[in-house]
Amino acid sequence: ADEPLVLGIETSCDETGVGIVRGHTLLADALASSVDQHARFGGVVPEVASRAHLEALVPTMQRALTEAGVTLADIDAIAVTSGPGLAGALLVGVAAAKGYALAAEKPIYGVNHLAAHVAVDTLEHGPLPEPAVAMLVSGGHSSLLLVDDLTNGVTPLGATIDDAAGEAFDKVARLLGLGFPGGPVIDRTAKEGDRRSIAFPRGLTAPKDLAAHRFDFSFSGLKTAVARWVEARERDGEPVPIADVSASFQEAVCDVLTAKAIDACRANGVGTLLIGGGVAANSRLRVLAEERAAKHGIEVRVPRPQLCTDNGAMVAALGSRLVAAGVAPSRLDLPADSAMPL
Ligand code: KG4
Ligand code: ZN
Repeated sequence: ADEPLVLGIETSCDETGVGIVRGHTLLADALASSVDQHARFGGVVPEVASRAHLEALVPTMQRALTEAGVTLADIDAIAVTSGPGLAGALLVGVAAAKGYALAAEKPIYGVNHLAAHVAVDTLEHGPLPEPAVAMLVSGGHSSLLLVDDLTNGVTPLGATIDDAAGEAFDKVARLLGLGFPGGPVIDRTAKEGDRRSIAFPRGLTAPKDLAAHRFDFSFSGLKTAVARWVEARERDGEPVPIADVSASFQEAVCDVLTAKAIDACRANGVGTLLIGGGVAANSRLRVLAEERAAKHGIEVRVPRPQLCTDNGAMVAALGSRLVAAGVAPSRLDLPADSAMPL
């Protein structure tokens, strides 16, 4: 009971999350999602997301406190995602966190969303061995990070130069008529298909690209290649083998992600690879990462799917590490920073 009780608020995209942790122990993880409101647009609409956060935040806060069996007075610190993310969405969470911090006289910690995706794993697997490499793959980001000391930030090794991995899943699902969000449905559909049936391109893996972009990703060429392939089929009046296209597309994404992640571990002499973000829920990505990491004696850590997607627990988890490390809180005039660097 000596460990600090930390509450975390997440509103950077379309999930309103409030999590409560004590030390490394998760006590509550309340979530409200506006994903259904964005479905017919095929992607997150910022204005819609902001309004949904405003409606959902206080009820989600109440649910988290009830779930943990604590009151706001019991909380030792409030952490909130202050960036990167959608500007209007971030503002709702940051403004709410400040209000709670001011009213209850609690310290506030503005935290980086990507670092929070890394920190969440501590709730499941305990302290992260450092240094580690983290690969964060979601609808909004695809990054390789070097984690030397999580409480001191993370170092970017590379990122996508166009679409995020999850965005590629969403766009390909859309062109296959599978709905939104695309990741889970492609994951399911791919199980019925042959991942070797179509040779889709692997972005930024040619020797000339590796020189400048060894740890960067590119998925927009892959998406275009899938679109062209499907168009050609339709032009010829042939049926589109949805399962084979899904499986081959998914294989192209997972092949590149895991190859570059393992390369980043080896280049940095790192023995632990952490995978987070919504795409970490992908079943093929998990299998391929394990298979390839094992060959090099690298341990792979993937939090359970519920913790991989955006949530409040990840923000609370990072807040808890910051408090434990004695890091000074943020000021109450803390800004929301949509383009926050690492
Ligand atoms: O982390 P997240 O919930 O939100 C963002 O910060 O974007 O990630 C959502 C993304 C979506 O693009 C979704 O299609 C993808 O994660 N996703 C998956 C799977 N489950 C969710 N992608 C591939 N396979 C999955 N099983
Ligand atoms: Zn995220």
